[in-house]
Amino acid sequence: MSFLNYENDILKFEDISIREIAEGRATPFYCYSKQTLTNNFREFSDSLTSLDATVCFSLKSNSNLTILKTLTELEAGGDVVSEWEMRKALQAGMKPNKIVFSGIGKTASDIQFAISNNCLQINAESLDELDHINRIASVSGKIQKVGIRINPDIQSETHKKISTGSLEDKFGISIEQTYEIFQNPQNYPNLEISSIAFHIGSNIKDLTPFQRTFEIIGELVAKINSETKKINTVDVGGGISPEKRNFTFEDYRNLIVKYFDTENLKFIFEPGRLIAANAGILVSKVLYTKNITGKKFVIIDAGMNDMMRPALYDAHHEIMPDVRTSEYDEINTDIVGPICESSDVFLNIQKFNKVKSGQYVILKDVGAYGSTMSSNYNARPLIEELMVDGSQIRIIRKTQSYEDFIKNEI
Ligand code: LLP
Repeated sequence: MSFLNYENDILKFEDISIREIAEGRATPFYCYSKQTLTNNFREFSDSLTSLDATVCFSLKSNSNLTILKTLTELEAGGDVVSEWEMRKALQAGMKPNKIVFSGIGKTASDIQFAISNNCLQINAESLDELDHINRIASVSGKIQKVGIRINPDIQSETHKKISTGSLEDKFGISIEQTYEIFQNPQNYPNLEISSIAFHIGSNIKDLTPFQRTFEIIGELVAKINSETKKINTVDVGGGISPEKRNFTFEDYRNLIVKYFDTENLKFIFEPGRLIAANAGILVSKVLYTKNITGKKFVIIDAGMNDMMRPALYDAHHEIMPDVRTSEYDEINTDIVGPICESSDVFLNIQKFNKVKSGQYVILKDVGAYGSTMSSNYNARPLIEELMVDGSQIRIIRKTQSYEDFIKNEI
């Protein structure tokens, strides 16, 4: 069910119109729907009930504290890739034993923080890193649970810049090396290496790459466990696209049941986009419009610094006016931001509702990798974030102030 709908041509998010949300507020701003977030998380975790599963929301997709608290109330764990992400997860109340620490380039202080705060497991991505984690664990006098992130060498047919599971990509350890690690646990006396992890890419719409991965890794886990009985947890990563998929959550779960010994294994899931993407919109205002030789530009006040997915990945995000009319411009139109870069284009469209200066427009499906990837480029502030719940509006992040922006510069 969508919580973003036109009612009598007025765009509403949950029970409140965009106009009412935006009234008296500076634009642009992010706005999230609590009900969408909650439904997304519940729907996914309910589909896994037959498994011993921990759903660790991937904080890189959205790490706003209120969003995290909302998910923590639903018993979410977290997938984190830096000390600060882990700190935010803990601050939001996530249990340490539901926090997985991933990432290809963890620093000594990341690892120390993860170990001293008793995270569920650290996923290692190279032999070098494994030695490093072992050394730090031995200094802390702890035995740290570790997952080996495998690179299964699978093409996932998603955008090249968000594919992670092929040997061309920097991520993970090969199957052969992984096997050797499990043969030689004596090399890592301070580690309990008892998990396999993988993540083949993001925004995956087709079940086949998951199937091929589960098949390859399922076989490896069975082989290792038939010899050593070492692996008790499989971390299947994230990557499921929230839209235009050719499979259901049930199909996905059934594949896990098919390829893994689900009676004896625990599973970790790390969804990000699936939970947060369609829970967020970016509300912006039209600044100007102009026509140049057969082309129209609609210049809005949100820029690529606020939401960089279209500029970086050519990502398509629908743009909707807050009031829909029957008047359209049927002309090649670029909806662009104010940043001094030609790549600051959100959408190219051939037919768009006639809009004029001062009108609100929204960008859809920006709750994941929107705010977390924003920057101060062009010395623009990090923008306000709101959450709606029914007809209630809450500020969940204040607009960055100039003083805050400048305070660490000399
Ligand atoms: N686990 C690991 C180890 C990951 O690297 C990622 C995402 C996830 C989980 C969550 O994946 P999701 O369920 O959200 O697909 N900035 C890009 C996406 C980069 C994803 C990086 N890793 C974008 O805006 O499309």
